[in-house]
Amino acid sequence: MNKVTKAIIPAAGLGTRFLPITKAVPKPMLSVIDKPTIQYIAEELSSVGIEEIIIVVSPGSDVIERHFGEADALEKRLLEDGKTELYEIERQTRRFNVRFAVQEVANGLAGAILCAEPFVKDEPFALLLGDELIYAGENDKPCMKRLTEIFEKTGKSVIATMEVFGDDVSKYGNIGIESEEDGIMQVNAIIEKPSVNEALSNNAIIGRYVLSGKVMGMLKKLQPRNNEIYLTDALHELAEKGELLASCFEGIRYDVGDKFGYVRANIEYALRNKELAKQTKDLIKQLAKEL
Ligand code: UTP
Repeated sequence: MNKVTKAIIPAAGLGTRFLPITKAVPKPMLSVIDKPTIQYIAEELSSVGIEEIIIVVSPGSDVIERHFGEADALEKRLLEDGKTELYEIERQTRRFNVRFAVQEVANGLAGAILCAEPFVKDEPFALLLGDELIYAGENDKPCMKRLTEIFEKTGKSVIATMEVFGDDVSKYGNIGIESEEDGIMQVNAIIEKPSVNEALSNNAIIGRYVLSGKVMGMLKKLQPRNNEIYLTDALHELAEKGELLASCFEGIRYDVGDKFGYVRANIEYALRNKELAKQTKDLIKQLAKEL
């Protein structure tokens, strides 16, 4: 049975690129317009029917827990004041089945994934990085839908990729491609942030994965490098055995852990927001005249 019912969102990184805000506010609580990025990701999961979410947080990140938790006094007040629309918006934050695991020391992505092991055990799981948003337009197949369909059909781990060119290849994990059919790539190697000459293809790994149950066990057995274990090492092992697939995602990816990516996300989400679209468009037009 290849059904994917669980997801891990690692959200325990230090977020140093976003200091000083990330000193006290965990990066996944940074909002795009009025919603923290972690809620967009929870919504992405529930839209494909993955209901059990495990968020890996750093110690003292209880603000994330509070965001998804009860707020009886606030709800009572909103109802008393007749603010039913706002009440509904608040209720939306409570509809997720979220559990938390704490990563005591930020020792990397693989370390964060292992913190969720007691919840996932040897079951397959979706993995969504807490600082990437994926927007699917009307004609796009949502990224997680595509990945879960491929996993459910093949039983093989599958990662989402995007095309990158020039110096950009060195910013991401890179895949070697053995073959491709119907947009599904059979991966034969993984290389972390290669130089332009070392790159195996123009396909970069993005923060969306569906991984088979065996990955957790593989992570546990990996030898640390520089005192860290790497998800890439487990993926490379799968690739060598012919057990790793990849698919280029459709839509737009926002790296909200990067300052410009964050600014871009806010502008583009504002342009799609019915309350803000007109004002934002007018502002952009006016600014463009002055640039
Ligand atoms: P990043 O590589 O963006 O690291 O992590 P970071 O610490 O969040 O940010 P910078 O680079 O210092 O600014 C990618 C994802 O993996 C999670 C992060 O929360 C982010 O969603 N992560 C990373 C963990 O959960 N734990 C870690 O130890 C490292």
